[in-house]
Amino acid sequence: MAIQARAVPRRAAPGDVEKAPLVDTPDNIEAEGDDDNKHARRLTTHFYVHPILLFLIVGGLCLRNFGFPFPSPAPEPLPPFVEDGMKQTLPLRVSVRTVSPRETGAVWLKNATLWTGENDGEEVLYGADVWLDGGVIRRIGKADDMVDLLAASKDYEEVELNGAWVTPGIVDVHSHLAVDASPELKGNSDTNSWKASIQPWLRSLDGFNTHDQAFNLSISGGITTMLVLPGSAGNIGGQAFTFKPRWTKENSPQSMQVEPPFVIEESDSGENQWTRTGAWRHIKHACGENPLRVYGNTRMDSAYDFRRAYTEGAKLKERQDRWCLSPKTQTEPFPSSLEWEVMSDIIRGNVKVNIHCYETVDLQDLVRISNEFQFPIAAFHHAHEAYMVPDLIKQAWGPTPGVAIFANNARYKREAYRGTPYAPKILADAGLRVSMKSDHPVLDSRFLVYEAAQAHAFGLNFSESLSSVTTHSARIMGLGHRIGYVRPGYDADIVVWDSFPLTLGATPKQTYIDGIPQIISPHNFNKPSAAQDISPAGDYDKEAQEAIDSRGDPNLRPKKSSSAIVFEGVQNLYLDGVTAQGEPGRVVVQNGEIACAGKDCVVAEGEYEVVQLNGGSIAPGLITTGSKLGLIEIAQEKVTSDGIAYDPLSGTELLDGLLVHAVDGARFEGKDELMAYQAGVTTGVTSPMTSKFFSGLSYSFSTSASHALAPGAIGNAAAALHLNLDNSGASVSSKIALLRSLLSGGDSLKASDELHDAFKSAAAGDLRLVISTHSADAIATLIRVKREVAPKLKLTIVGGFESWMLAEELAQEKIGVIVAPSRSFPASWDQRRILAGPPITNHTLPSYLASHGVTVGLGITEECDARLTRYDMAWTYASSPNVFSKPDAIALVTTNLQELLGLNDGVQAKADLGFVAYEGDMFSFESRVRAVRAPGADSMDLF
Ligand SMILES: *[C@@H]1O[C@H](CO)[C@@H](O)[C@H](O)[C@H]1NC(C)=O
Ligand SMILES: *[C@@H]1O[C@H](CO)[C@@H](O)[C@H](O)[C@H]1NC(C)=O
Ligand SMILES: *[C@@H]1O[C@H](CO)[C@@H](O)[C@H](O)[C@H]1NC(C)=O
Ligand SMILES: *[C@@H]1O[C@H](CO)[C@@H](O)[C@H](O)[C@H]1NC(C)=O
Repeated sequence: MAIQARAVPRRAAPGDVEKAPLVDTPDNIEAEGDDDNKHARRLTTHFYVHPILLFLIVGGLCLRNFGFPFPSPAPEPLPPFVEDGMKQTLPLRVSVRTVSPRETGAVWLKNATLWTGENDGEEVLYGADVWLDGGVIRRIGKADDMVDLLAASKDYEEVELNGAWVTPGIVDVHSHLAVDASPELKGNSDTNSWKASIQPWLRSLDGFNTHDQAFNLSISGGITTMLVLPGSAGNIGGQAFTFKPRWTKENSPQSMQVEPPFVIEESDSGENQWTRTGAWRHIKHACGENPLRVYGNTRMDSAYDFRRAYTEGAKLKERQDRWCLSPKTQTEPFPSSLEWEVMSDIIRGNVKVNIHCYETVDLQDLVRISNEFQFPIAAFHHAHEAYMVPDLIKQAWGPTPGVAIFANNARYKREAYRGTPYAPKILADAGLRVSMKSDHPVLDSRFLVYEAAQAHAFGLNFSESLSSVTTHSARIMGLGHRIGYVRPGYDADIVVWDSFPLTLGATPKQTYIDGIPQIISPHNFNKPSAAQDISPAGDYDKEAQEAIDSRGDPNLRPKKSSSAIVFEGVQNLYLDGVTAQGEPGRVVVQNGEIACAGKDCVVAEGEYEVVQLNGGSIAPGLITTGSKLGLIEIAQEKVTSDGIAYDPLSGTELLDGLLVHAVDGARFEGKDELMAYQAGVTTGVTSPMTSKFFSGLSYSFSTSASHALAPGAIGNAAAALHLNLDNSGASVSSKIALLRSLLSGGDSLKASDELHDAFKSAAAGDLRLVISTHSADAIATLIRVKREVAPKLKLTIVGGFESWMLAEELAQEKIGVIVAPSRSFPASWDQRRILAGPPITNHTLPSYLASHGVTVGLGITEECDARLTRYDMAWTYASSPNVFSKPDAIALVTTNLQELLGLNDGVQAKADLGFVAYEGDMFSFESRVRAVRAPGADSMDLF
């Protein structure tokens, strides 16, 4: 197949013969987020302003007397304040490209499977070569097409890709990287101001911290550009800026910007000065619960505050326009205002407005305000209800806003309660531009492509899914003319992948930013050939329709169950003690038990429900632990939860040191529980909620039960004793002093007999002690405590990001680790020494621990992630197939957790996890749960 290099070099590459236009062409205007069906309307409401148009209307007002842009010699010198004033209304969108940071030679990427971003049906090019030079993509073609470049280049690096997938660099349209820097310390918390709800004058650039530990991590996930937004504490949190996470020679925040709206420039007189460039500006708005929580702004207050701010902007713009009518006769400088100038610039159409907004009511409030003040909205962010109201979003003034959303992160607060995994597909089908975003560090932007992969798994086609983290995000940011695509003339931001980027565990082999490889000695290994195939989108049309029809509250309970089922097409049985008779393929389930497995099983026709698994598998139900699933429904709504556990250590609250049993606060039928159940997670294990030292006794429960007295609802009512050893509250050493005392039978704590007895059982090895901590130092201390005062102690660490540093000691003392979450991120100081995993390190944390003989489980921290347990398992497997077999990987979220959480201790029967039938390979995104037998149930629920 012939590969045509597109003849649209939009930017000048050093050495390019063709001259690239430096000013946006009409073609680029389209690329900035137009919406065809609105075109007509926009032309009549000519105040929808694209930069060029704006220049004619507004800039022209100010400049017509001087014949700009082709000035004839000025008849008389203008006063400097007039010259300055005129520059203020220069909204021409020039592509400001400063000197390319690339200092070495070119890169020749050979034999890629290239996804270009074009979305024209020919966006995948096989056997493609890409030539990067001077920080831009110089050419795309076959090897033969590179001959002249080869001849002309003295210095180039040749990279043989052997068909590896290549995509444009990943673009994150919503990041707080470097303002919410990692590890989090008081000294680097620069996401929000806490001074007022409306502060358009603040700038994220002013807080951008170059020491964020996340830079290299995000790069290792393919991030090449991000829009760094202020936080959402207030309604207008401030202005946002676009950055590339690469190191620059100048090593400053400003030098990392992509297309800065302001630069320090040498003037004609040789002095440095702060100059406006004409590039897009960006601003953050927020509505709903955050301004309520932080500033007491109800929705009505917020709307009024927005209107006040926009009224200030409109007034200023009017004064400016009046000034511009006759600049020569002005005696006062051009009207401006430190506080409100950006608001006037928004109304001029020069600012990309990004609005954190969840619910229908909030979306419509902002749509109204955009029409009242006539400004376009670049994107609604979070927007968990957008999928219910696509037509409402199209009513915004100007081009239709994009929608920047999470794949799974939902239900953590009321306004996120109706989030659905089918939203990306629903929104894209409705013609909206969908962008998946990280909100880093809310999600680690290193795994932003995982969000796109989930969107794909739940219905969005592959090109739309990849676009959601490349082209769409670039265009929402107003950078569609230089990033988001693999096109000649575009920035040489490129990711080379170890598999099709939307497969589970897909990992960059290398990330190029401005043509510079960013990962030094990447650790890669070859993924199986099946992982190279374009995976089909999940078919969830029915479920998506239910989400819409129910306005976000679909009935999540199973609709059908059966006590006699025959599964056909079973390829793998991962159940202990069940072996197939004869050839595998068939499994018969009767009254909730496997009655027979194998081709030779005989079934009487008509008496069984037949379910075809198409090469699928049957495996134990999975366990989720680490979050407060089973104790809370909406994390930020206290009334939906059990509340915070009573703390025997907190002075006045100390009555007689009671031991809290989580089971007594058990809550069932939550959305996260039922969604986890649908995803094959049958069992939850949760300890009492606390941020203090004492948690209490954990319990295990069935995720499908409707109340605590339902059959099988409670597995183990007192599974293990949980403590929390992070550095909140009393010092770690104080907590350890108490722990030593309690384990050695001391009564230094005025506490109930039950509590003292629990520690005695723990010391004797009868009750497992589960301690949450990430710190290697705390873990080392715990190992000393075990050795010194309680050698029989059965100990489990939960969290454990730094536990790899003590892998040998942990193995020696038979202390297990529940890695939670399963992929580490250095959010806090005690989490900073992570084992990052490929491509930064060869091992992942689970594979490192397991290969040193430590018993490992996988956990989560947020309730909504319970439903992703299988993906976490499959990801861990895909990253270390040499360490884990598939059954080993399943054990990470089943039997290992049973052991590490004490589920089988002190009870008569072994914990029943039930079992799950998956259609397709359960280690892939494409497989789906078809039937679940819940713990203690005598029939199977069918999905
Ligand atoms: C490109 O890579 C594929 C996959 O490894 C291989 O089959 C093909 O032969 C390679 N083509 C060339 C020209 O090297
Ligand atoms: C992918 O999905 C988008 C949005 O629904 C649609 O416009 C496009 O036609 C789809 N592409 C293909 C190849 O089906
Ligand atoms: C990040 O990677 C760069 C190489 O691109 C390296 O020089 C630097 O030391 C790394 N920084 C951190 C904090 O690991
Ligand atoms: C990486 O780990 C694998 C096991 O997962 C091992 O076979 C390989 O030798 C390791 N490579 C390096 C460079 O350590």
